[in-house]
Amino acid sequence: MGTIKCIGILTSGGDAPGMNAAVRAVTRSAIYNGLEVKAIYRGYKGLITGEIETFRTQNVSNIIQQGGTILKTARCKEFMTPEGRQEAYETLQREGIDALVCIGGDGTLTGARIFATEHNYPIVGLPGTIDNDLFGTDSTIGYDTALNTIMDAVDKIRDTATSHERLFFIEVMGRDAGFLALNGAIATGSEAAIIPEIATEYDQLGELIKNGFRKSKNSSIVLVAESPLTGGAMAMAERVKNEYPQYDVRVTILGHIQRGGSPTAFDRILASRMGAAAIDALLEDQRNVMIGIQNDEIVYVPFNKAIKNDKPINRDLLNTLRILSI
Ligand code: F6P
Repeated sequence: MGTIKCIGILTSGGDAPGMNAAVRAVTRSAIYNGLEVKAIYRGYKGLITGEIETFRTQNVSNIIQQGGTILKTARCKEFMTPEGRQEAYETLQREGIDALVCIGGDGTLTGARIFATEHNYPIVGLPGTIDNDLFGTDSTIGYDTALNTIMDAVDKIRDTATSHERLFFIEVMGRDAGFLALNGAIATGSEAAIIPEIATEYDQLGELIKNGFRKSKNSSIVLVAESPLTGGAMAMAERVKNEYPQYDVRVTILGHIQRGGSPTAFDRILASRMGAAAIDALLEDQRNVMIGIQNDEIVYVPFNKAIKNDKPINRDLLNTLRILSI
């Protein structure tokens, strides 16, 4: 250590509840360790436009409980080009920022990895995404809160589904991953989860219909992960409406409500631990790693592994869901 005196921090990509708790933890941990902190606004875009502010401990007061990100976020096209990344590098040089902590999902860490390699620049990443799709960490910051939001919403939908004896297809986020749909389905006692990791949407739907959608029950709820592979909740509903007109089908797409709200205790603690660990990692001379959590222990996951590997779905969970929905 010794070479890093000032760190930059940014949030990028889709916001996730707990990002603020992570920003707070990184900032305070850095200051505690004698480092200067510069906050970069609007993700990688702020590195190009130079929207940067020195942060002191009070800049992160009263944010641990807030959803979204006080640093704002963006998906920056310019940073995907070598020219854009060169501008970003020049900004970092000008500002005297020796290392970066980047908080975000797959796209953010991909950008971080390319930049770090291209400019031989120290970066540590924090997994901040509701999708929980980063390899090497049991959970990402924001996933637990989103899961709880889904649970609250589905519980409410169940009231009306039961009253009308309807079949509901509820679409949840996750990009290409089914973690929110699968665990959301278990948490809400749903009939099934249609997820991109398992079979094709047609097979999954066929299997459900063959089993009669729980004939003994007066309503059914199926969680569908958004994805071109599942076709989403609309496609599922259309198919059932056409082929099985006896079902009174409705669709709810939960959408961006899943990204908002005050983070759960789990996400606040996770973000706080990971934020502090990011500074430890930089001081230990770690480079180009994502902070992960495995079996409640902080781990360092090389960017390459975190991004390139698909995080596997635990098939036991699918089994549990199937058994419990008989
Ligand atoms: O990665 C988080 C996420 O919410 C995904 O689940 C979703 O597919 C995507 O972002 C939506 O992105 P946007 O808010 O840019 O439409």
